Amino acid sequence: MNKKLLVTGGAGFIGSHVVRRLVNKYPDYHIFNLDKLTYAGNLANLKDVESKPNYTFVKGDIVDADFINALFSEHRFDGVIHLAAESHVDRSITNPLEFVMTNVIGTVNLLNAAKKYWAEAYSEHRFYHVSTDEVYGSLGEIGLFTEETKYDPHSPYSASKASSDHFVRAYHDTFGLPVVISNCSNNYGPFHFPEKLLPLAIHNIKNNKPVPVYGKGENIRDWLFVEDHAVAIDLIFHTGKLGTTYNIGGNNEWKNIDIIRLLCQLMDKKLNRPAGNSEKLITFVKDRAGHDLRYAIDSSKLQNELGWKPSLRLEEGLERTVDWYLSNDQWLSNVTSGAYQQYYETQYDGR
Ligand code: NAD
Ligand code: TYD
Repeated sequence: MNKKLLVTGGAGFIGSHVVRRLVNKYPDYHIFNLDKLTYAGNLANLKDVESKPNYTFVKGDIVDADFINALFSEHRFDGVIHLAAESHVDRSITNPLEFVMTNVIGTVNLLNAAKKYWAEAYSEHRFYHVSTDEVYGSLGEIGLFTEETKYDPHSPYSASKASSDHFVRAYHDTFGLPVVISNCSNNYGPFHFPEKLLPLAIHNIKNNKPVPVYGKGENIRDWLFVEDHAVAIDLIFHTGKLGTTYNIGGNNEWKNIDIIRLLCQLMDKKLNRPAGNSEKLITFVKDRAGHDLRYAIDSSKLQNELGWKPSLRLEEGLERTVDWYLSNDQWLSNVTSGAYQQYYETQYDGR
């Protein structure tokens, strides 16, 4: 084994794709997946790699500094790819403090451990912080987020991610910690927890339940297939310039109502329903508080410097995603039983 890498949040949506890619592509690395297994963490996302000799799962909480220090002391990681986070905007509106704990305190605990255990040879290590385009706030009808766009977060989620990004940069500038950051647009694909727009809509359409669209569905997101994000993370971790930021985006801007209509058409086809059937499920509900109008990413720095580009158009990625959900019924019913029901009722009741 020539490298020990710590991936945090590897049992979540994006983390599981990153872990799978690293475990399969680098048999000479040992990948440690540290995850608290919150409602969003699911070891079933990694069934296909769990018995590989270069993979170890560690259950733990990044908010627990003693635990993090002990883990670094035991394993002396060469690098960290940090994805663990509370990630859902609606939950951040209900419970902001949880987001401060994991996204801010948890990140600072990891930075402190890296600073302490890597002090003798910073140049041999790398701390990669995975972040979101939501830190930049909301765009009007034109323009794109670049790496120079000023931070202007509006939700407790994006404020907590912005804060963690600032801490990561501060540890670079103050202590010389070898860091790199990326800010990515909305991901979609297999293993996405059905609290987020697309998997929630797939689940509801499948079950003939109303599909809640906030406000008038005019908000715009830039969608990236999750495996393309994992490719970018691999590339940036290995070749990204230290102390800098890379924006990652799909170049796939869609209004929520348009993407939901497209999804309805696709689901009608896949479920052999008459055309127009699923669209009848669309239900406009009360808007999200502080709802950002538009996100769109300029990823030309990543494309020009490191040669990355998205591999799929949204139409292709969406079809792959729908096919995955329809053939992984058990995964979907496992994650939507129990606590999910209660969340759903509280979140959408009276909307
Ligand atoms: P997710 O919610 O699916 O997964 C988060 C994972 O972190 C879960 O496995 C959870 O158990 C784990 N976790 C949460 N709190 C923890 C704690 N205190 N200690 C240890 N583990 C903990 O999230 P995701 O969508 O996979 O996002 C991963 C990262 O990528 C996040 O940092 C998020 O901000 C960022 N990101 C997400 C998107 C997106 O569209 N989903 C886009 C850009 C950036
Ligand atoms: P979401 O998947 O929560 O991602 P984010 O808020 O991080 O962009 O939401 C994507 C868009 O879909 C966002 O504009 C909010 C909207 N949305 C709905 O219209 N209905 C829903 O039930 C959800 C969860 C989101």
